[in-house]
Amino acid sequence: MDLSSEKLKHLLNLNADVLVFELIGSTNVYAEEIAAQTDKPIIIVSESQTDGRGRNGKTFFSPDTGLYLSLVTHPKSDFFSLTTITCGTAVAVCRAIEKLTDLKPQIKWVNDIYIDNKKVSGILCRALGGNGKIEHLITGIGINIYTKDFPDEIKNTAGSLNVQIDRNQLTAEIVNQIMKLSENDYMDEYRKKSCVIGKEITYFIDGIAYNGKAVDIDENGGLIVINDDKKITLTGGEITVRFSVD
Ligand code: BTN
Repeated sequence: MDLSSEKLKHLLNLNADVLVFELIGSTNVYAEEIAAQTDKPIIIVSESQTDGRGRNGKTFFSPDTGLYLSLVTHPKSDFFSLTTITCGTAVAVCRAIEKLTDLKPQIKWVNDIYIDNKKVSGILCRALGGNGKIEHLITGIGINIYTKDFPDEIKNTAGSLNVQIDRNQLTAEIVNQIMKLSENDYMDEYRKKSCVIGKEITYFIDGIAYNGKAVDIDENGGLIVINDDKKITLTGGEITVRFSVD
């Protein structure tokens, strides 16, 4: 196993509890179980998962050719928009990949990281709290590093970094970049890295598919779409982008 809590602690710019696994059910599920045990940030990182969780109840394919990471922080703040947090995380993941490789990652709204029109990383944030406060924030990130054989459902859309990379360095760089984000200093970069703005997309409302053109992303992470001269703002849900095939 190349992940090591000692190496990670050495590379991190913060004092965190670091838990390293070769195999786990889901780093996000484990993060939820232990989030309240300490006031320190917690990093749970694994080389594979048997029960990786994705958005909208989907699974996240997690073989040992990837990196699966959950960061627990304790903001103890008023409820804020998870969409905006997720946008920041997507920018942080791109910055980390750019710093360690020559790759040029892009962001597919809301929070998928794409390289060459293939999804290489997904992000799933969860806030735990009560009485209008966020007590613990769990930021889950999965990255396909060398994965080649994807299940049928995702084999046309999924890809990998496909570069030699040290998983300790990648983990530490992502966490350091997330901790460096300050409120809303990243939306301009998010827009610049968007592979959705200017594209024809399909979006879904109450299960019905609509076509439109994505024209911008607002300060709250909402996707502004024009359909039949009408402007609407999507605040969540899945979209598909028609990437042009040159
Ligand atoms: C998505 O693309 O649907 C989001 C995927 C998030 C996957 C990561 S892998 C680490 C963490 N643990 C999980 O079970 N899920 C997140």
